[in-house]
Amino acid sequence: MLKIGVLVSGSGTNLQAIIDAIKQNNIIAEIVVVISDKKNAFGLQRAINENIPAIFISKKQAGSIENFNTEIVNTLKDHLVDLVVLAGYLSILSHHFISTYRNRIINIHPSLIPSFCGNGFYGIKVHEAAIKQGVKISGATVHFVDEGTDTGAIILQKAVEVLPLDTAETLQQRILKLEHELLPLAVKLFCENRLQIIEIENTITKVLVIQNELLSCRT
Ligand code: GRF
Repeated sequence: MLKIGVLVSGSGTNLQAIIDAIKQNNIIAEIVVVISDKKNAFGLQRAINENIPAIFISKKQAGSIENFNTEIVNTLKDHLVDLVVLAGYLSILSHHFISTYRNRIINIHPSLIPSFCGNGFYGIKVHEAAIKQGVKISGATVHFVDEGTDTGAIILQKAVEVLPLDTAETLQQRILKLEHELLPLAVKLFCENRLQIIEIENTITKVLVIQNELLSCRT
């Protein structure tokens, strides 16, 4: 059974969606540790409520971004983590972190990448930009994490209509519901080995979802 490590910085509703999917046996895996860069992240409390090890790692005490990331990687290794899920996690991952877990880190972003992503686009800022731009659809994206910001290969996306009277807040709430479907589905697909990574010249170009019926004939 795959072991999952989840990183959170906030309320942890995406973490909760994964916890619930596992409890309902929609995902066959185990969350073995939840780590946060924020001491008061409610996501840590959600882990405690489920008797999952909940660990705050202080960026300040670590002294540098490199040491901070190394401490997180060592904690993930101590828990034998196979898959790292960034569920509303806001700190930058180091090259050491990403290379240690190459193609085994997934992130949820509340827009249809490549729109409204990259540096400075997080939380409500994403939706404020979408409303300001006047887009007619937005949505959520789950992607693998690489050295860029929100640039890794896309795994799943789902769109919602932006309504004429939408505010950034109403759009955020509607997309959050979408995230709670999409992230557990991506985790499920990974755990069932149904994500085919297509690489060209050592760069992931795309991710194909292997449909169930094709699994049996997979080489
Ligand atoms: C979500 O909107 C997610 O897309 C973004 O940060 C927010 C985290 O929410 N990365 P939660 O902590 O999972 O409730």
